Amino acid sequence: MEIFQSLVKNLLVLIGVLLLLIISLLIGSVYFDEIWQPHSKEDIVEWDPKTVVLNNPTASSEVKKGFLILDSTSHFIGPLSRNFKYAGNNLSCTSCHLNGGTLSGAASWIGIFKRFPQFSGRENKSGTLVERINGCMERSMNGIALPKESDQMRYILAYMKWLDYGLPKLNSKNFKGYPKIELPSVAVNLKKGKSIYLKECVVCHGENGQGMMYQNENKGYQYPPLWGSDSYNDGAGMNRVLTAAAFIKNNMPYLQATWKTPKLTDEEAFHVAGYINSFPRPQKINKENDYPDKKLKPMSTPYGPWKDNFSPKQHKYGPYLPIYNFYKEKYGIKKTK
Ligand code: HEC
Ligand code: HEC
Repeated sequence: MEIFQSLVKNLLVLIGVLLLLIISLLIGSVYFDEIWQPHSKEDIVEWDPKTVVLNNPTASSEVKKGFLILDSTSHFIGPLSRNFKYAGNNLSCTSCHLNGGTLSGAASWIGIFKRFPQFSGRENKSGTLVERINGCMERSMNGIALPKESDQMRYILAYMKWLDYGLPKLNSKNFKGYPKIELPSVAVNLKKGKSIYLKECVVCHGENGQGMMYQNENKGYQYPPLWGSDSYNDGAGMNRVLTAAAFIKNNMPYLQATWKTPKLTDEEAFHVAGYINSFPRPQKINKENDYPDKKLKPMSTPYGPWKDNFSPKQHKYGPYLPIYNFYKEKYGIKKTK
C-alpha cells in the first residue's frame, strides 16, 4: 500500500513538472514571436504593396498616388516621365527606403511626421519634411527640388501621413534611420571590399555596379545601380562610408539580411561600402556650403572643408577612431557617422 501511495505521489510530481514545462514553452514561444516577429525575414517577403496599399479600401487615391510616385519615381517625376523631370536618375525613393518606406532599419518613414520639423546640420537650421524630401531629391536622386505646391509633393505627404496614422499595424515597426555599426579600428580595404562585392552583391548590382532595369515595365530599376552616372550623387548620405555601411549591414544582400538577422559583419559592410563609393558618380554643386557649422559635419563626409586637419582620404575611408577622438576631446561631440 505504501509503495502504491509513493508511486502515485511520484507520478503526480512528474505530471506537475511536465505541465510546468509545457506552459513555460508556450509562454516562451509567444514572447519569442513578439520579439522577432516585427523584424523577421518573413516581413520582407510579406510586404505586398497591392494588399497593403493599392487595393486597400481604407487608403485614399492621393495616398495611392503618393505610393506610386515613391515606388516608381523615375516614371512619375524623373527621366522616364514625359514632362515632369525633377529626379535626375532612374532610382526610386524605395530603392533605399525599402518596402514602401515601412521597413525598420532601412530609414523607415513610419513616424516621420512626428520627427519634423527637425534640426539639420547640413543646413544648420530647423528644416521641414518637405525640405528633407528635397534633400534626397537633390542628392540621392541627383535631381532638383520638387515644388512645395505641386500635386506630386501633396501625394507624397499624403502617403507618409497615412503611414503614420492610417496603418497602426505597421507602427510597431518604427525604427528611424539605420542601426549604427561599431566604428572599425581599421581603414577601408578596397581589396577586401571588392572580394565581398564579387561574392555577395555582383549577381544583382552587376560587374560595373550598373544594376538592371525592369525589362517589361516603364518603372526604373529592379536592381538599382551603386555607382556611375545613374546613381546617387557625391553629396548624398549614401556616399558616406559609415552611412552606406550601416544601410548595407542591415539590408543587404537583399532578401537575405535584415537588421535582426544581418549577413555581413560590421567590418565587411564597411569594406564593401568603401568599395562601392570608390568609383565615380555624379557631382553635386555647391557642396562646400553644406554644414555651415563645419564641426557638425559627419566625419565620413568625403568632401571638405572640415574643421580638422585629417586628410581627405582619411575622411573618405578612415580609420575614423582618431577623428572621433578629436571631436570628442576638442568639442565634446561624439560622432556616429
Ligand atoms: C540612394 C539612397 C536614397 C534614395 C534613393 C532616397 N533616399 Fe531618402 N534618405 C537616404 C538616407 C541615407 C537618409 C538618412 C538616413 C539616416 O541616416 O537617418 C534618408 C533620409 C530621408 C528622410 C528623413 C528620414 C528620417 O527619419 O529623418 C526622408 C523623409 C527621405 N529620405 C525621403 C526620401 C524621398 C521622398 C526620396 C525620393 C524622392 C528619397 N528619400 C530617396 C537615402 C536615400
Ligand atoms: C538579390 C539581389 C541583391 C543582392 C545580392 C544585393 N542587392 Fe543591394 N539592392 C537590391 C535591390 C532590389 C535594391 C532596391 C530595393 C528595392 O527596390 O526594394 C537594392 C538596393 C541597394 C542599395 C541602395 C540603392 C542604391 O542604388 O544605391 C545599396 C547601396 C545596395 N543595394 C548595396 C548592396 C551591396 C553592397 C550588396 C552586397 C553586400 C548588395 N546590395 C546585394 C538587390 C540586391
